Amino acid sequence: MAFPENFINELVERSDIVDVVSGYVRLGKRSGSNLFGLCPFHSEKTPSFSVSPDKQIYHCFGCGKGGGVINFIMEIENLSFPEAVEFLARRAGMPIPEQTDDRESRRRARMLALNRDAARFFYSQLSTPAGRAARDYMAGRRIGSATATNFGLGAAPDSWDSLLRAMEAKGYTGQELFEAGLARRGKNGGFYDSFRNRLMFPVIDVRGNVIGFSGRILEDGEPKYMNSPETPVFSKSRNLFALNLAKKSKSGYIILSEGNIDVVSLHQAGFDSAVASLGTSLTPEQARLISRYTDQIIIAYDNDGAGQKASQRAIGILEKLDVRVKVLRMSGAKDPDEFIKRKGADAFRNLLDASENQVDYRLRNVTDKYDLNVDEQKVDFLKEATELVARLPGAVERQVYSMRVASMAGVAADVVSGEVERKRKRLLSRAQRSDQREQSRPERQLQPAEKGLRYEDPCSAAAEEGLIRLLYLDPALSRETELPEPEEFSSQALGRIYSAIRARIDRGEEVSAAVLGGELSLNEMSLLVGILQKPELLSRGGRALRDYIKRIRERKELAAGETDLRELASRLRERKGYEG
Ligand code: CTP
Ligand code: MN
Repeated sequence: MAFPENFINELVERSDIVDVVSGYVRLGKRSGSNLFGLCPFHSEKTPSFSVSPDKQIYHCFGCGKGGGVINFIMEIENLSFPEAVEFLARRAGMPIPEQTDDRESRRRARMLALNRDAARFFYSQLSTPAGRAARDYMAGRRIGSATATNFGLGAAPDSWDSLLRAMEAKGYTGQELFEAGLARRGKNGGFYDSFRNRLMFPVIDVRGNVIGFSGRILEDGEPKYMNSPETPVFSKSRNLFALNLAKKSKSGYIILSEGNIDVVSLHQAGFDSAVASLGTSLTPEQARLISRYTDQIIIAYDNDGAGQKASQRAIGILEKLDVRVKVLRMSGAKDPDEFIKRKGADAFRNLLDASENQVDYRLRNVTDKYDLNVDEQKVDFLKEATELVARLPGAVERQVYSMRVASMAGVAADVVSGEVERKRKRLLSRAQRSDQREQSRPERQLQPAEKGLRYEDPCSAAAEEGLIRLLYLDPALSRETELPEPEEFSSQALGRIYSAIRARIDRGEEVSAAVLGGELSLNEMSLLVGILQKPELLSRGGRALRDYIKRIRERKELAAGETDLRELASRLRERKGYEG
C-alpha cells in the first residue's frame, strides 16, 4: 500500500461516511441503523442505497456497489485509490505523508507521460511533410492553427511505425505503447501504430492529463473515429472530449454535441463550452461529471433520426440530475459545424437563445405526430401527452403543462390535469412494485448484485461468502481450524478477497474496509460489502466456519468428479471409435 496504515486509519476516522456521502446524496429514511437515499450510481425511484454509520460502509441493494468512504470517493469522483485518499485528506485538512510509491500509481504516471509525449509527437507532425494530409483536411474543414494549438490537434502519419519509433527513441517500449492503446501487436509478435493517417484529437481530463486519443479518418467513410481502448488511465464512459476547456467557460451552460469536429468548430466560433462524448451515447457518469461544472446543459446533437434518438436518451439521463436541460432545434444544416459555416456564429447564438427546455422539446415531438383537427388523433395525442406530463417530477410543472396540453387540444384544463394525476399515481405504484420485486427475486439473492459477475457454483460460492464474512467480522476465528487455500474456492473473485483478508490476518494486521480498499478493486470491494450485508451468527462462529469449509471442499470434489467422469466418457468414446 502506498500510504502508511495509521494515516489511512486516521483519515477514515476523520472522514465520517455519512458526512461525505451527504455531499452527494440526500440521505433520508432511516431503517434500523442504516440511512437510505437514492443511489448515485444507477437510476432508481425508491431508495436502495444504504449507508451504515456503525460499519462506515455504503451498499446499494439495487446495483450492488459498495465499499468504505475511500471507495465511495473513488467511484463518484472517478479517482484512483491514492487520488481519493488525497481528496479526502484535503477535505479533512490532513497533510499527506510521503508515499512509498506503489507499482500501480507509477504505471499510471508513466502511461500519462507516454500519452503526453505521443500528443506532442502528433502535434509536431502537423508541420512536417508526413502531416500534409491531416493539414489539408483541417484546411478543408476550416480549422485554423490557433484552434489546432488550443486543442493540441495533431497528425498520425500514414505509416506503420512512426509513433513507435519516436517513442522508442524516448525510452518507451513497444509493450508500453501497446498497454496505452497506442500500438497493436502483429502476427509476428512485433508492434505497429494503432493510429495511422488520421487527424488526432487528444482527450484531456479536467486535471489536464492526456488520457487517450480519438483519431478521425481523413476521407469519407465509417466509422469516422477510432478511440483509445480502455486503459488504466482512460475510460470512455467517464470522460468527455473538451471538458478540460469547457469547464473554464464563462457562458453558464455546457453544449453537448456529437462529433469532435462539431466541438472544435463551435469553440472556434466562440462557443467555448462545447463538449462531446467519446463514441458512446451519454452515460450517467458523464452526466454527473458535466453537472459538476454547470447547471444548464444544451443538447446540440446532429439533425437526423439518430441525433433525435440520442437527444431523448440524453434527456432521460440528465433529468435525474439537478440541471436544466434544453434542446437546440436546428434546420437547414446537418450539425452545428455545418450550421455555423452556412449561417454564421450569430445565427447559432440565436439558436442557443431559442433552444427549448426539454419538456417543450418532447411535447413538440408528440404534437408533430398528430393532426389535432382530427378527433381520433386528438384522443391519441391526449393519451401520449398526459403520459409525458405525468412523468414530470414537480407538481407545479405538471399543472403548467397540463394547461398547455389542454389548450392545444381544446379541452377543459381540469380534465387533463385530473388524467395526469391519475396516471402519475399509477406510475408511482408501478415503480415501487417493480423495485420490490427486483429485490426479492430468489436468484438475485444467490447471485452477486454486482453486474458482470456470476457464480458458476452458487452453492459453493455461498459457503465461500460465509467464510469471508466470518473472518472479516471475527479474525480470531482463523485459529479455530485449518483454513482452505484461495485456490480451493470456486469463484476467483471470492478467492482474491479471501486471500487479501487472510494475508492481513496472517500478518497480524487489522481487517477493515479502509485498508482493504487499497488492495482490492472497486468491484471486489462492492462484492465484499454485499457479502457483509447478509446475516451471520457469530455466537456459533467456529461451528459455522467448519461447515462452510466442509461445503467448499465437498463441492470441489464433486466438481472434480464431474470432470473425471467427462474425461472417462470421452476416453471410452475414443476407444469405441478404435474398436468399432
Ligand atoms: N464518435 C466516435 N468517437 C468520438 C466522437 C464521435 O465514435 N470520439 C461518433 C459518434 O458517436 C457519432 C459520430 O462519431 O456517431 C459523430 O459524428 P459526426 O458528428 O458526424 O462527427 P464529426 O466529427 O462532426 O464529423 P462530420 O463533420 O463528418 O459530421
Ligand atoms: Mn458533425
